[in-house]
This record gives sequence, structure tokens and C-alpha cells, in this order.
Amino acid sequence: MEIHIVEDADAGATVVADVFTRTVQEAGDPGAVLGLATGSSPIPAYAELIRRHREEGLSFAGSRAFLLDEYVGLTAGHEQSYHRFIRENFIEQVDIDDAAVVSPDGAAIDPIAEAASYDRRIAEAGGVDLQILGIGSNGHIAFNEPGSSLNSRTRVVGLSRSTIQDNSRYFDSAADVPVRALSQGLGTILEARRIVLTATSAGKAAAIAQLVEGAISSRWPATVLQLHPDVVVVVDEAAGAQLQLAEDYRYARRLEIENPLDVTQG
Ligand code: GLP
Repeated sequence: MEIHIVEDADAGATVVADVFTRTVQEAGDPGAVLGLATGSSPIPAYAELIRRHREEGLSFAGSRAFLLDEYVGLTAGHEQSYHRFIRENFIEQVDIDDAAVVSPDGAAIDPIAEAASYDRRIAEAGGVDLQILGIGSNGHIAFNEPGSSLNSRTRVVGLSRSTIQDNSRYFDSAADVPVRALSQGLGTILEARRIVLTATSAGKAAAIAQLVEGAISSRWPATVLQLHPDVVVVVDEAAGAQLQLAEDYRYARRLEIENPLDVTQG
């Protein structure tokens, strides 16, 4: 894992946007397959990508995208649906074709069948080149709550009490938060070729410490990312505050900047 401890959300957004930019530029034809996340954590990175699109000509033309998850029972147009969230916060402000942005259908009559077909649709698109992730305070990624199989696939999941509590800020009350979601599995997420996870604030500090330095366990689902070969973790000081080796990660980043790898030298 490559750990970046940055000053604030804006500095983190730059690091995340750099990973996105590199992936989009490397993809060539027919474009990158992006794995998009909702929640507040990726918003500064999306804002930075929108700025680069407007001011620096960064183009997402030809890119396709898959969302991580969706609440069961919410229609695409519901004001708290992730389908709508990603359009308002990213898609409508860049040049990705709306029809190329796919999410699980929370209003599907048969959510189990909807989940079962989702991984196949990702595979048919050639798999995800870059997955952006946030993290729940309980260590969930997407909606893979503690206790999720480390090899899980896209499926219908029940939300934990802490997630319903955390996400109730977007609804009138906790009672209005859907109790289920369609979520990519941990095994599905691990198939993305590159992953960047971003978190800010003290509320994420325990989950980040487990993700980076804890034992791999479904108690903290994000720890499964330790098995992935290409993960970048971007946290602010508060979210990184419980990392035991924080100084080592800072040192490693400094050394990299001071000694860039020159692959052209024989
Ligand atoms: C939600 C989403 C996750 C997200 C997490 C953290 O429950 N399903 O994908 O990472 O919560 O959200 P936030 O970034 O708003 O803290």
C-alpha cells in the first residue's frame, strides 16, 4: 500500500485526482472503466477532476463507470439515490456519457437477480481500471459491513446499526434510511486493477489504522485491501492519527519525491 498523509481534504483531492488522471490517460481507446463511489469523502476529488476537465482539458470521453452500491427500494430519481448523487456531483459536469454510467438498480423487482447480473456486467466491460473508495467508520467499503465474506460478490446486504446511524444525516431520520443495499462484494472490489481509498476526519481514524496496520479480518472489511497489489490510501492528519507508522509513511513519500525512479536509465 502507498500511504499518503496530507494536510487537508484539498491536498488529498489532488493526490486522488492525479491517480484518476493517470488512469484515464493511460487507458487509450476505448477509454477507462472507472469504479465510482458515493458519500462525502470522494467529493473533493470529483471537484478537482471537474476543475481539470474545465480548465485543463482533461477528458473522460469514452470512459465507462460502475457504481459501488445503491440503496434497495430507492428509485434512480430519489434524492438520496446513489444513481442521482454521482450525476449531480460528477457525471453531469464532465464529458462521460450518462448511458455509460451503470449502477445497481435499487428499484429492481428482483434485487437478488439484479445483484447476480452486476458482476457479469462489470466483467463484460473488461473489469474496472480504477476504483475509488471511501470507508465507513466501522471499516466498511461499499456496503460490506463487518462480518462480510472476504470473497463476497455483488449481493443484497443488510445495513449495520452504525451505518444507518452514520447515513441518517442525509435523510429526515434514521427510520427513513433504507435497511438494505445492493453492494459490490469485497471479492468484486479486489478485481479492480487499481484502488484509491480516501478518508478525512477523526471518525475514520480507527478504521484507517485497521485498514493499513490491522490483521485481515471481516471484523474490519477494508483490511482485505491488504491483499491487493495496487492500493493508494489518502488520509488527512485526523484520519491518519492512529497509524503507528505514520512517520515511516511520510518518510517514504518524501524519499520518492526526492529520488524519482528513472525507468529510462539502463
Ligand atoms: C456509505 C457508502 C460508502 C462510503 C461510506 C462513507 O455508507 N456506502 O461507499 O464510503 O458510507 O461515507 P462518507 O464518505 O460520507 O463518510
